[in-house]
Amino acid sequence: MKILVTGSTGQLGQEVVRVLAADGKNVTGVSSRDLDFCHPERVKEWVSRFKADWVVNCAAYTHVDMAEQEPDKAFLINHAATVALAEGVKSYAGQLLQISTDFIFDGKQSHPYSEGDVPAPLNVYGESKLAGEQAVSGLLPEATVLRTAWVYGEHGNNFVKTMLKFASERNEIQVIDDQLGSPTWTWDIAEAICSLINTNTTGIYNFTNEGVASWYDLASEVITVARQLGYQVKTSHVRPIPACDYKTLASRPAYSVLSKCKIRDVLNYNIPHWRTSLREMLTQLRKTR
Ligand SMILES: NC(=O)c1ccc[n+]([C@@H]2O[C@H](COP(=O)([O-])OP(=O)(O)OC[C@H]3O[C@@H](n4cnc5c(N)ncnc54)[C@H](OP(=O)(O)O)[C@@H]3O)[C@@H](O)[C@H]2O)c1
Repeated sequence: MKILVTGSTGQLGQEVVRVLAADGKNVTGVSSRDLDFCHPERVKEWVSRFKADWVVNCAAYTHVDMAEQEPDKAFLINHAATVALAEGVKSYAGQLLQISTDFIFDGKQSHPYSEGDVPAPLNVYGESKLAGEQAVSGLLPEATVLRTAWVYGEHGNNFVKTMLKFASERNEIQVIDDQLGSPTWTWDIAEAICSLINTNTTGIYNFTNEGVASWYDLASEVITVARQLGYQVKTSHVRPIPACDYKTLASRPAYSVLSKCKIRDVLNYNIPHWRTSLREMLTQLRKTR
Protein backbone atom coordinates (compact mmCIF):
# COMPACT_ATOMS: atom_id res chain seq x y z
CA MET A 1 0.00 0.00 0.00
CA LYS A 2 1.42 3.39 -1.07
CA ILE A 3 1.05 6.12 1.57
CA LEU A 4 1.97 9.81 1.44
CA VAL A 5 2.59 11.57 4.76
CA THR A 6 2.65 15.37 4.60
CA GLY A 7 4.31 17.28 7.44
CA SER A 8 6.80 14.43 7.80
CA THR A 9 9.33 16.68 9.57
CA GLY A 10 6.82 17.56 12.32
CA GLN A 11 6.56 15.84 15.68
CA LEU A 12 3.58 13.73 14.59
CA GLY A 13 4.57 13.27 10.94
CA GLN A 14 7.95 11.75 11.85
CA GLU A 15 6.29 9.18 14.09
CA VAL A 16 3.58 8.36 11.53
CA VAL A 17 6.23 7.65 8.88
CA ARG A 18 8.08 5.40 11.35
CA VAL A 19 5.02 3.42 12.47
CA LEU A 20 3.54 2.96 8.98
CA ALA A 21 6.90 1.86 7.54
CA ALA A 22 7.30 -0.64 10.41
CA ASP A 23 3.85 -1.98 9.49
CA GLY A 24 5.14 -2.74 5.99
CA LYS A 25 3.63 0.20 4.12
CA ASN A 26 5.38 1.91 1.21
CA VAL A 27 5.64 5.36 2.85
CA THR A 28 6.80 8.65 1.37
CA GLY A 29 7.12 11.64 3.70
CA VAL A 30 7.15 15.24 2.46
CA SER A 31 7.84 18.54 4.23
CA SER A 32 7.39 22.14 3.12
CA ARG A 33 10.66 21.90 1.19
CA ASP A 34 9.20 19.15 -1.03
CA LEU A 35 5.60 20.35 -1.20
CA ASP A 36 4.89 23.88 0.05
CA PHE A 37 1.30 24.35 1.25
CA CYS A 38 1.69 28.10 0.63
CA HIS A 39 1.07 27.19 -3.04
CA PRO A 40 -2.20 25.23 -2.99
CA GLU A 41 -2.41 24.85 -6.79
CA ARG A 42 0.94 23.00 -6.78
CA VAL A 43 -0.29 20.79 -3.91
CA LYS A 44 -3.31 19.67 -5.92
CA GLU A 45 -1.28 18.91 -9.02
CA TRP A 46 1.54 17.13 -7.15
CA VAL A 47 -0.83 14.94 -5.12
CA SER A 48 -2.99 13.99 -8.10
CA ARG A 49 0.16 12.90 -9.98
CA PHE A 50 1.61 10.98 -6.99
CA LYS A 51 -1.56 8.88 -6.54
CA ALA A 52 -1.02 7.46 -3.06
CA ASP A 53 -3.61 4.95 -1.84
CA TRP A 54 -3.77 6.99 1.39
CA VAL A 55 -2.62 10.53 2.12
CA VAL A 56 -2.12 11.29 5.83
CA ASN A 57 -2.11 15.07 6.25
CA CYS A 58 0.08 15.95 9.24
CA ALA A 59 1.18 19.27 7.69
CA ALA A 60 -0.25 22.33 9.38
CA TYR A 61 0.38 25.86 10.48
CA THR A 62 0.67 25.10 14.20
CA HIS A 63 1.84 28.40 15.74
CA VAL A 64 -1.28 29.00 17.82
CA ASP A 65 -0.33 32.47 19.08
CA MET A 66 1.33 33.72 15.87
CA ALA A 67 -1.82 32.75 13.95
CA GLU A 68 -3.57 35.69 15.63
CA GLN A 69 -1.10 38.00 13.83
CA GLU A 70 -0.92 36.17 10.50
CA PRO A 71 -4.41 34.70 9.97
CA ASP A 72 -4.01 34.71 6.17
CA LYS A 73 -1.04 32.35 6.38
CA ALA A 74 -2.81 30.09 8.89
CA PHE A 75 -5.85 29.86 6.58
CA LEU A 76 -3.68 29.41 3.48
CA ILE A 77 -1.97 26.34 4.95
CA ASN A 78 -4.74 24.89 7.14
CA HIS A 79 -7.65 25.60 4.81
CA ALA A 80 -6.78 26.51 1.19
CA ALA A 81 -3.95 23.97 0.86
CA THR A 82 -6.03 21.33 2.60
CA VAL A 83 -8.83 21.93 0.08
CA ALA A 84 -6.27 21.53 -2.72
CA LEU A 85 -4.96 18.33 -1.13
CA ALA A 86 -8.49 16.92 -0.88
CA GLU A 87 -9.21 17.88 -4.51
CA GLY A 88 -5.98 16.16 -5.57
CA VAL A 89 -6.93 12.98 -3.70
CA LYS A 90 -10.48 13.14 -5.09
CA SER A 91 -9.16 13.35 -8.69
CA TYR A 92 -7.99 9.73 -8.56
CA ALA A 93 -10.42 8.44 -5.86
CA GLY A 94 -7.75 8.01 -3.17
CA GLN A 95 -8.23 8.07 0.62
CA LEU A 96 -7.40 11.06 2.84
CA LEU A 97 -6.79 11.05 6.59
CA GLN A 98 -6.85 14.61 7.93
CA ILE A 99 -5.42 15.44 11.37
CA SER A 100 -7.50 17.93 13.36
CA THR A 101 -7.53 19.36 16.85
CA ASP A 102 -9.37 19.86 20.15
CA PHE A 103 -8.95 23.61 19.50
CA ILE A 104 -12.05 23.53 17.26
CA PHE A 105 -14.04 23.53 20.54
CA ASP A 106 -14.50 26.44 22.96
CA GLY A 107 -13.91 24.35 26.10
CA LYS A 108 -17.11 25.51 27.81
CA GLN A 109 -18.37 21.95 28.21
CA SER A 110 -17.61 20.01 31.40
CA HIS A 111 -17.89 16.51 29.91
CA PRO A 112 -15.80 15.04 27.05
CA TYR A 113 -16.46 16.39 23.56
CA SER A 114 -17.97 13.85 21.17
CA GLU A 115 -17.43 13.86 17.43
CA GLY A 116 -20.93 15.29 16.94
CA ASP A 117 -20.62 18.23 19.33
CA VAL A 118 -20.83 21.67 17.75
CA PRO A 119 -17.41 23.27 17.16
CA ALA A 120 -16.83 26.88 18.26
CA PRO A 121 -13.13 27.74 18.01
CA LEU A 122 -11.72 30.42 20.32
CA ASN A 123 -8.77 31.37 18.15
CA VAL A 124 -7.59 31.79 14.53
CA TYR A 125 -5.64 28.52 14.57
CA GLY A 126 -8.79 26.63 15.66
CA GLU A 127 -10.90 28.43 13.04
CA SER A 128 -8.43 27.57 10.28
CA LYS A 129 -8.21 23.92 11.34
CA LEU A 130 -12.01 23.68 11.50
CA ALA A 131 -12.30 25.19 8.02
CA GLY A 132 -9.80 22.58 6.82
CA GLU A 133 -11.57 19.57 8.29
CA GLN A 134 -15.01 20.78 7.14
CA ALA A 135 -13.69 21.25 3.60
CA VAL A 136 -12.22 17.74 3.65
CA SER A 137 -15.49 16.20 4.84
CA GLY A 138 -17.44 18.24 2.26
CA LEU A 139 -15.24 17.29 -0.68
CA LEU A 140 -14.59 13.70 0.37
CA PRO A 141 -17.49 12.24 2.38
CA GLU A 142 -15.39 9.04 2.69
CA ALA A 143 -12.41 10.87 4.23
CA THR A 144 -11.12 10.10 7.73
CA VAL A 145 -10.71 12.99 10.18
CA LEU A 146 -8.74 12.30 13.36
CA ARG A 147 -8.99 14.93 16.09
CA THR A 148 -6.31 14.83 18.73
CA ALA A 149 -5.02 17.08 21.52
CA TRP A 150 -2.09 18.06 23.77
CA VAL A 151 0.44 16.31 21.52
CA TYR A 152 4.03 15.57 22.55
CA GLY A 153 6.73 13.22 21.30
CA GLU A 154 10.46 12.71 20.98
CA HIS A 155 10.74 14.90 17.89
CA GLY A 156 10.23 18.63 17.54
CA ASN A 157 9.10 21.13 20.13
CA ASN A 158 6.39 20.42 22.66
CA PHE A 159 5.34 21.10 26.25
CA VAL A 160 6.97 17.95 27.67
CA LYS A 161 10.36 18.76 26.14
CA THR A 162 10.07 22.38 27.30
CA MET A 163 9.40 21.17 30.85
CA LEU A 164 12.46 18.87 30.67
CA LYS A 165 14.57 21.86 29.63
CA PHE A 166 13.16 24.09 32.38
CA ALA A 167 13.67 21.27 34.90
CA SER A 168 17.39 21.23 34.15
CA GLU A 169 17.69 25.02 34.50
CA ARG A 170 15.20 26.35 37.08
CA ASN A 171 14.51 25.81 40.78
CA GLU A 172 10.83 26.62 40.33
CA ILE A 173 8.46 26.25 37.38
CA GLN A 174 5.05 27.95 37.21
CA VAL A 175 2.39 26.08 35.26
CA ILE A 176 -1.30 26.64 34.46
CA ASP A 177 -3.61 24.42 36.50
CA ASP A 178 -7.06 25.51 35.26
CA GLN A 179 -6.96 24.13 31.70
CA LEU A 180 -7.78 20.43 31.37
CA GLY A 181 -7.03 18.00 28.57
CA SER A 182 -5.49 14.64 27.75
CA PRO A 183 -1.73 14.62 27.05
CA THR A 184 -1.18 12.41 24.01
CA TRP A 185 1.98 10.70 22.76
CA THR A 186 2.69 10.89 19.01
CA TRP A 187 3.54 7.17 18.98
CA ASP A 188 0.02 6.30 20.20
CA ILE A 189 -1.57 8.61 17.61
CA ALA A 190 0.53 7.00 14.87
CA GLU A 191 -0.56 3.52 16.03
CA ALA A 192 -4.20 4.65 15.92
CA ILE A 193 -3.72 6.07 12.40
CA CYS A 194 -2.21 2.76 11.29
CA SER A 195 -5.23 0.89 12.70
CA LEU A 196 -7.70 3.23 10.97
CA ILE A 197 -5.92 2.69 7.64
CA ASN A 198 -5.71 -1.08 8.09
CA THR A 199 -9.42 -1.27 8.86
CA ASN A 200 -10.31 1.22 6.11
CA THR A 201 -12.21 3.29 8.66
CA THR A 202 -13.75 6.58 7.49
CA GLY A 203 -15.57 9.42 9.27
CA ILE A 204 -14.66 11.71 12.16
CA TYR A 205 -12.86 10.20 15.17
CA ASN A 206 -11.37 11.59 18.37
CA PHE A 207 -8.14 10.09 19.64
CA THR A 208 -6.11 10.98 22.74
CA ASN A 209 -4.47 9.01 25.50
CA GLU A 210 -6.76 7.98 28.38
CA GLY A 211 -7.09 10.16 31.47
CA VAL A 212 -7.40 13.87 32.17
CA ALA A 213 -4.73 16.31 33.36
CA SER A 214 -4.02 19.98 33.79
CA TRP A 215 -0.78 21.44 32.42
CA TYR A 216 0.33 21.55 36.07
CA ASP A 217 -0.38 17.79 36.47
CA LEU A 218 1.57 17.07 33.29
CA ALA A 219 4.55 19.21 34.30
CA SER A 220 4.61 17.64 37.78
CA GLU A 221 4.60 14.14 36.28
CA VAL A 222 7.38 15.05 33.81
CA ILE A 223 9.57 16.25 36.73
CA THR A 224 8.81 13.17 38.87
CA VAL A 225 9.47 10.65 36.11
CA ALA A 226 12.48 12.55 34.73
CA ARG A 227 14.10 12.44 38.18
CA GLN A 228 13.40 8.69 38.47
CA LEU A 229 14.93 8.08 35.02
CA GLY A 230 18.13 9.97 35.79
CA TYR A 231 17.56 13.16 33.80
CA GLN A 232 19.21 16.29 35.19
CA VAL A 233 16.51 17.90 37.38
CA LYS A 234 17.14 21.14 39.31
CA THR A 235 13.45 21.96 39.93
CA SER A 236 12.30 21.53 43.53
CA HIS A 237 8.89 23.17 43.15
CA VAL A 238 6.17 23.25 40.47
CA ARG A 239 3.81 26.14 41.26
CA PRO A 240 0.19 26.02 39.96
CA ILE A 241 -1.03 29.29 38.44
CA PRO A 242 -4.34 30.32 36.80
CA ALA A 243 -4.40 30.81 33.02
CA CYS A 244 -5.25 34.50 33.59
CA ASP A 245 -1.73 34.93 35.05
CA TYR A 246 -0.12 33.64 31.83
CA LYS A 247 -1.22 35.94 29.04
CA THR A 248 -1.07 34.63 25.45
CA LEU A 249 -2.18 36.18 22.15
CA ALA A 250 -4.63 33.34 21.48
CA SER A 251 -7.36 32.27 23.88
CA ARG A 252 -7.34 28.57 24.69
CA PRO A 253 -10.16 26.25 25.77
CA ALA A 254 -10.35 25.59 29.51
CA TYR A 255 -11.62 22.05 28.91
CA SER A 256 -10.25 20.06 25.97
CA VAL A 257 -11.13 16.48 26.84
CA LEU A 258 -12.27 14.44 23.83
CA SER A 259 -14.54 11.40 24.15
CA LYS A 260 -12.95 8.22 22.78
CA CYS A 261 -16.10 6.04 22.82
CA LYS A 262 -16.30 5.94 19.01
CA ILE A 263 -12.68 5.01 18.31
CA ARG A 264 -12.55 2.42 21.12
CA ASP A 265 -14.97 0.35 19.01
CA VAL A 266 -12.52 0.43 16.07
CA LEU A 267 -9.21 -0.19 17.86
CA ASN A 268 -8.67 -3.77 18.99
CA TYR A 269 -6.47 -2.72 21.93
CA ASN A 270 -6.82 -0.59 25.05
CA ILE A 271 -5.72 3.03 24.61
CA PRO A 272 -2.84 3.69 27.07
CA HIS A 273 -3.28 6.14 29.97
CA TRP A 274 -1.33 9.39 29.52
CA ARG A 275 0.90 8.63 32.54
CA THR A 276 1.90 5.25 31.04
CA SER A 277 2.72 6.74 27.66
CA LEU A 278 4.57 9.71 29.15
CA ARG A 279 6.87 7.35 31.09
CA GLU A 280 7.44 5.27 27.95
CA MET A 281 8.29 8.34 25.87
CA LEU A 282 10.66 9.73 28.53
CA THR A 283 12.33 6.31 28.81
CA GLN A 284 12.91 6.20 25.05
CA LEU A 285 14.12 9.81 24.93
CA ARG A 286 16.58 9.14 27.80
CA LYS A 287 18.32 6.50 25.68
CA THR A 288 19.16 9.16 23.09
CA ARG A 289 20.59 11.65 25.63
N1 LIG B 1 0.82 19.92 18.70
C1 LIG B 1 -0.36 19.73 19.26
O1 LIG B 1 -0.49 19.81 20.51
C2 LIG B 1 -1.54 19.35 18.43
C3 LIG B 1 -2.77 19.16 19.07
C4 LIG B 1 -3.88 18.78 18.30
C5 LIG B 1 -3.74 18.60 16.94
N2 LIG B 1 -2.54 18.82 16.34
C6 LIG B 1 -2.47 18.64 14.89
O2 LIG B 1 -1.56 17.58 14.64
C7 LIG B 1 -0.95 17.78 13.35
C8 LIG B 1 0.54 17.66 13.48
O3 LIG B 1 0.99 18.67 14.37
P1 LIG B 1 2.48 18.66 14.95
O4 LIG B 1 2.38 18.95 16.40
O5 LIG B 1 3.23 17.47 14.47
O6 LIG B 1 3.05 19.97 14.23
P2 LIG B 1 4.54 20.42 13.94
O7 LIG B 1 5.52 19.63 14.75
O8 LIG B 1 4.54 21.91 14.06
O9 LIG B 1 4.76 20.02 12.41
C9 LIG B 1 4.09 20.71 11.39
C10 LIG B 1 4.44 20.09 10.08
O10 LIG B 1 3.74 20.84 9.08
C11 LIG B 1 4.66 21.19 8.08
N3 LIG B 1 4.36 22.48 7.46
C12 LIG B 1 4.30 23.69 8.05
N4 LIG B 1 4.12 24.65 7.11
C13 LIG B 1 4.08 24.01 5.92
C14 LIG B 1 3.94 24.43 4.58
N5 LIG B 1 3.85 25.74 4.25
N6 LIG B 1 3.95 23.49 3.61
C15 LIG B 1 4.08 22.18 3.90
N7 LIG B 1 4.23 21.71 5.14
C16 LIG B 1 4.25 22.62 6.15
C17 LIG B 1 6.01 21.28 8.76
O11 LIG B 1 7.01 21.11 7.75
P3 LIG B 1 8.39 21.97 7.79
O12 LIG B 1 9.26 21.31 8.80
O13 LIG B 1 8.92 21.80 6.41
O14 LIG B 1 8.00 23.37 8.13
C18 LIG B 1 5.93 20.13 9.74
O15 LIG B 1 6.34 18.93 9.13
C19 LIG B 1 -1.46 19.13 12.85
O16 LIG B 1 -2.56 18.93 12.02
C20 LIG B 1 -1.92 19.82 14.13
O17 LIG B 1 -2.92 20.77 13.85
C21 LIG B 1 -1.43 19.17 17.05
